[in-house]
Amino acid sequence: MLKKLTLATAIGSIVMSASVMASSLTVGFSQIGSESGWRAAETAVSKVEAKKRGINLKISDAQQKQENQIKAVRSFIAQGVDAIFIAPVVQTGWGPVLEEAKDYDIPVFLLDRGITVEDDSLYMTSVTADNVLEGKVAGQWLIDTVKDKSCNVVELQGTVGASVAIDRKEGFNEAISSVDNISIVRTQSGEFTRSKGKEVMESFIKAENSGKNICAVFAHNDDMAIGAIQAIKEAGLAPGKDILIVSIDAVPDIFKAMMNGDANATVELTPNMAGPAFDALLSYKDTGAQPPKKIVTESKLYLPKDAPAQLEMKKDLGY
Ligand code: AHR
Repeated sequence: MLKKLTLATAIGSIVMSASVMASSLTVGFSQIGSESGWRAAETAVSKVEAKKRGINLKISDAQQKQENQIKAVRSFIAQGVDAIFIAPVVQTGWGPVLEEAKDYDIPVFLLDRGITVEDDSLYMTSVTADNVLEGKVAGQWLIDTVKDKSCNVVELQGTVGASVAIDRKEGFNEAISSVDNISIVRTQSGEFTRSKGKEVMESFIKAENSGKNICAVFAHNDDMAIGAIQAIKEAGLAPGKDILIVSIDAVPDIFKAMMNGDANATVELTPNMAGPAFDALLSYKDTGAQPPKKIVTESKLYLPKDAPAQLEMKKDLGY
């Protein structure tokens, strides 16, 4: 009986110490901004995941500027947070501020994008998709869809210097380099936004015989694809038929476009990057366990047949 009581007390105190630890943790999250539906969902899901674990989450919106992110990180250090999450807008220029976080023993977690630093001990882990694979999956879909037909692709890239834009481009190029009939004829950044995606697509259409020379759009995110769809319609062509549309994210609006026949395929990026990062942080605080350097999320292809179920599943996620 005494043994049982002692065990129960021990288990109780372990559970207590874990929950006290979670509820007393404060995490500062430097978010990029609100350039896309996916980004809005990532922010919303991060709040939900923090609440589930009793973590106090402070979010700072950098409005697409790295300098604002660096200021936010310094402010989190000054506040003495327990950990810092960063969705890095671009991949370079992080070394000095991460050294400062390291000096104060504050672990840094990267969400959805990577960075290049000489010393990778400056961050604990990054939670991202394999962004090269995302590009490959999109490229392979196009290869399988056009078969032997010759296909001129226009590419809407994400933010210049962002790891995801660099990697998605690399993956798509790698896939289409295995065939002779598909090539990229125009490529430019649409900054991951709908408005810029539309503007750039309009210029592509003008330059390519009123769009008649274009067979497909590869957009690094769904928002730019939606902007491109608008531009194609305004040019009197049918998106999804005259010009194929393949993009990345799997946001509800691209599924709505699929249901209208305007879009053809998307590769999913989960908006839940914070959940795995919180779990890695809690386990590190509890046991000192170092998480793997990269926590990789899935990159699944979705087609028009998947649209109704995806829309239903994603309706309350904050997109
Ligand atoms: O880093 C992830 C990318 O950033 C998403 O694909 C895009 O929509 C976002 O803005």
